[in-house]
Amino acid sequence: MAEAAAPKKSIWAKHAFLEKNSIWLLIGILIVVAIGGLVEIVPLFYLKSTIEKVSGVRPWTPLELAGRNIYIREGCYNCHSQMIRPLRDEVERYGHYSLAAESMYDRPFQWGSKRTGPDLARVGNKYSDEWQRQHLADPRSVVPGSIMPGYPFLAQTRLKADHIGEDLKVNAVLGVPYTEEMIAGALTDLRLQATPDGDVAELQKRYPGAQVRDFDGNPRELTEADALIAYLQALGTMVDFKLYDDKANIR
Ligand code: HEC
Repeated sequence: MAEAAAPKKSIWAKHAFLEKNSIWLLIGILIVVAIGGLVEIVPLFYLKSTIEKVSGVRPWTPLELAGRNIYIREGCYNCHSQMIRPLRDEVERYGHYSLAAESMYDRPFQWGSKRTGPDLARVGNKYSDEWQRQHLADPRSVVPGSIMPGYPFLAQTRLKADHIGEDLKVNAVLGVPYTEEMIAGALTDLRLQATPDGDVAELQKRYPGAQVRDFDGNPRELTEADALIAYLQALGTMVDFKLYDDKANIR
């Protein structure tokens, strides 16, 4: 009986080495996956089209930023996303799909990955401040079947804002275009937005489109509810989509 010819030492024989040595196989897999990842991700840092240019997006005002910090502190992102996908059902329910530019000053972004409650990317100006106050204090009082927890303490807790200048500074280091002037005036701007009896025009020059009023219905005190509602009312309101409707042929 003729003996089977010895297999030719080919590339497959070299591969057999990998298949028999799991550590080298693992290292090989890591190298190949890393190449794939780099090819996909690195160009995004250089392509201008990664973040499409839109007008209207500005950094958060100090009060909105303080509200955003409360949003993160309370873990609202565990139940709420802030990212409307370009799918018909989402666009019909929530409005124009989210643009990358709309969260370009978010450090870190709040896209989220869980929707126990609805997406909040465009909740700004959807409800009155009064509704937001009631809903935060006792969600069931305005939405009977709601399973959202109440946050009644927000309206009773004075906003600790002494470090807001530092918050702006950190954001500036991370690339958010806060100027020296904005950082220096952060605390003044924060108070001004919720108790509008100063130079509101100056504030709105620094932060175009900022909504200025007493948000928590208690003009005597600056509370955490002031900050959080200012933030919620600003969400998704910065880009005027009427300017872009022709191009975004989905709506
Ligand atoms: C346990 C999950 C959960 C958490 C945590 C949570 N929510 Fe909700 N949220 C919901 C649910 C469910 C709804 C839908 C029912 C309702 O309107 O109350 C909702 C609705 C809302 C709405 C109304 C959205 C709309 O378009 O009608 C807002 C605004 C909101 N939540 C803000 C917040 C904020 C701010 C926080 C953090 C302080 C928070 N939620 C934390 C579950 C949650």
